[in-house]
Amino acid sequence: MPAEEIIDVRSDTVTLPTEEMLDAIRHAALGDDVFKEDPTVNRLEKIAAEKMGKEAALLVSSGTQANLVSLMSNTNRGELVILEAESHIYWYEVGGISTIAELLPWPVKSRFGALDPEDVEASIRPKNIHFPKPSLICLENTHNRHGGTIITPDHIKAISEVARAQGLKLYLDGARIFNAAVALRTDVKEFTKHVDNLMFCLSKGLCCPVGSLLVGTDKFIERSRKIRKILGGGMRQAGIIAAPGIVALESMINRLEEDHRNARRLAEGIAKLGGIQIDLSCVQTNMVCFDVGNLGINADMFVSKLKHNNILALALTEKKVRMVTHRGIEKEQIEKSISAIDNISNELRLELK
Ligand SMILES: Cc1ncc(COP(=O)(O)O)c(C=O)c1O
Repeated sequence: MPAEEIIDVRSDTVTLPTEEMLDAIRHAALGDDVFKEDPTVNRLEKIAAEKMGKEAALLVSSGTQANLVSLMSNTNRGELVILEAESHIYWYEVGGISTIAELLPWPVKSRFGALDPEDVEASIRPKNIHFPKPSLICLENTHNRHGGTIITPDHIKAISEVARAQGLKLYLDGARIFNAAVALRTDVKEFTKHVDNLMFCLSKGLCCPVGSLLVGTDKFIERSRKIRKILGGGMRQAGIIAAPGIVALESMINRLEEDHRNARRLAEGIAKLGGIQIDLSCVQTNMVCFDVGNLGINADMFVSKLKHNNILALALTEKKVRMVTHRGIEKEQIEKSISAIDNISNELRLELK
């Protein structure tokens, strides 16, 4: 008997490399990347820099390492960093911004992840003996904890004007920046041209097994290279990581549109069910978040009920469940998920009566 299919929609990080990626790994030309001698890494970094409209790029092991290296490279110890209150750097990176980079994070709240330029300006305090020097503003696009929402190029521009006027640098955690670009049907450079530097991930919707890239000026990347080494991130024959990265940049970006279509399908299906609340305006890319609070249950309990139906999701907050579409999640898995959510919510509503 075939095993029951598991529908894993916890994250797009669960994606596996494609056959083309595995072939590329097998045939990659390799060298020692600490000596800058890995031709495949060099090629990936060149492609990444060109795609983002910047001078240079650097391959690192993960999104978290990319953010940490960038924080350290953009600042000096003891300075203040303005970031969105729900940002990945603030929530999920084990406090590396403080414990390793020795910076003061200054969280600013927003609606849907897009910082209000006036709030950013207000958070930049004047020079004063009591205050640390503010040096960096961080944005996140798409915004993970806000449910994959997009920060538009115009919005980034407005924040960049504040940064420039106040002499601060602007950094983008663009782990899923290609989702934003594909969703708005625009070139990714429309986003990146407003920031000093950024990172993006290969290992999420683009399906690579490992890797993220930092992108910025030659000077920023050289400083980052040294910091990556301090953090133990100098890799040797890293071409085996870079090879699938090249495949991703050449052939995996446009398919993100399918993930967005499936997320929309899932969200619209859930919106029709009773007892569950969902804000369709927030479903902009490959994430779907919904509120189960009215069912008399918290998100963790709802997630375990889904697990009994072979569906893996994540509890995002006390009441919100998150599902993320990616390669391998097709219309059929979406229909099954909607039907399981419907059954669970009907059972719970009966219990509430
Ligand atoms: C917005 C954002 N930034 C950074 C990261 C960290 O990436 P990694 O898991 O590769 O460390 C993630 C991971 O989900 C993310 O969503």
